Amino acid sequence: MKKLLFLILTALNLVSLPLLAQQQVNADSIRNKMQWFADAKLGIFIHWGIYAVNGIDESWSFYNKKISYPDYMKQLKGFTASKYDPESWAALIKESGARYAVITTKHHDGVALWPTKQKHFSVVKNTPAGRDLLSPFYQALDKQGIKRGAYFSLIDWSHPDYPGFTKDSTRYKISDDPKRWERFQKFYQAQLKEVSTMYKPDLWWFDGDWEHSAAEWQAATVRKNLLSANPQTIINSRLTGYGDYETPEQNFPVTKPKYNWWELCMTINGSWGYQPQDTAWKTPYEVISIFADAVSNGGNLLLDIGPREDGTIPKEEIHVLKELGKWNQKHGEAIFNTLGGIPQGHFYGPTTLSKDSTTLYLFLPAKTSGSLMLKGLKNKIKKIRVLGSDKQLQHKVVGKISWSPVPGLVYIDVPATVHDEYMTVLAVELDGSVELYRGKGGLQE
Ligand code: GLC
Repeated sequence: MKKLLFLILTALNLVSLPLLAQQQVNADSIRNKMQWFADAKLGIFIHWGIYAVNGIDESWSFYNKKISYPDYMKQLKGFTASKYDPESWAALIKESGARYAVITTKHHDGVALWPTKQKHFSVVKNTPAGRDLLSPFYQALDKQGIKRGAYFSLIDWSHPDYPGFTKDSTRYKISDDPKRWERFQKFYQAQLKEVSTMYKPDLWWFDGDWEHSAAEWQAATVRKNLLSANPQTIINSRLTGYGDYETPEQNFPVTKPKYNWWELCMTINGSWGYQPQDTAWKTPYEVISIFADAVSNGGNLLLDIGPREDGTIPKEEIHVLKELGKWNQKHGEAIFNTLGGIPQGHFYGPTTLSKDSTTLYLFLPAKTSGSLMLKGLKNKIKKIRVLGSDKQLQHKVVGKISWSPVPGLVYIDVPATVHDEYMTVLAVELDGSVELYRGKGGLQE
């Protein structure tokens, strides 16, 4: 009888309701905790470690055998942090307009930037820096109202119980020595607990998950532990699928990614850490146009800087951050707390929308001027403002056929005199929430 009742209830979809309700609650709470991230748009990534001493690839240089492991580790002796000024780092990050910062607490080389109690390398025990570098930085971020992000490498090529070492040598196979792997799991999870309790990151930026499966990393347990310490913390995708948002690296999405939340991480030259021979600096305009493109497609930009071993930041990076900040000051209305823009094809440039979708922001790449076209806009335009100025622009609707539901084409007159040094943004104020015509122009659709 019970079984029959169960079958009937299942058929009526009643038994599964609580589960669905639970899933809904989970989805809502994830959306809530992700809100600041969705609004933030810009973060600054910091790769700082002993690799800055020689100015070589972070960790990868010994993995790829460009340098021997002992020579790589000799850099420990040269890492001084002698001019480290976390207050000025935080002030610069603030000036750039960023809302969060992510620092390498430990890269694949295993050297911790905090006083880890585990038996392993740290800048506190093993370098002349001799102190906790994270505390003063996170405190300085707090003062500026910037969220705390912790990059943490799952891979630890220096640890004697970690299987991987260089590109052509490993220490052991997990299946041959599961106890040894268990020791490593305990070790790295103890380190995570230290960072979690000492610094309470708002965001975890894992890296290096590709060397093992989710089961081997115990990714579900790691996620559970971090969330039980802080239910609001956000986790990136590099925890073998146990994260909250996606992290394309260096490569710019061409079509709008389907993820709810994503973040493009990108270097200002071609390197994550300090490398003086790498002078392929992106210009402020390039960074700004990439940033606008990411935001237009519903994502964030995590822009990387690589300080020197003494803690000073290369002037080229300072320049880009300051110029980006200047531009953000003027155009912040179109960037922060906005929504990703309208689908591609309506306007040949990035777009964003105000939260209520009644203002459409058009980003004008490459100082475009003349008559700009906007397609498929059903709304009436109330006003067009040039951000950061008191100028308003005129528009004209072309080709509207009285009996057709297809809207006319909007042409906006943009004189060259309105141009921003980097990228001009127009605010198109609409008579209501944006409504678009998405058809093919046929008579009946
Ligand atoms: C890569 C590299 C690493 C770098 C990271 C930043 O995964 O392994 O060196 O820290 O990207 O996104």
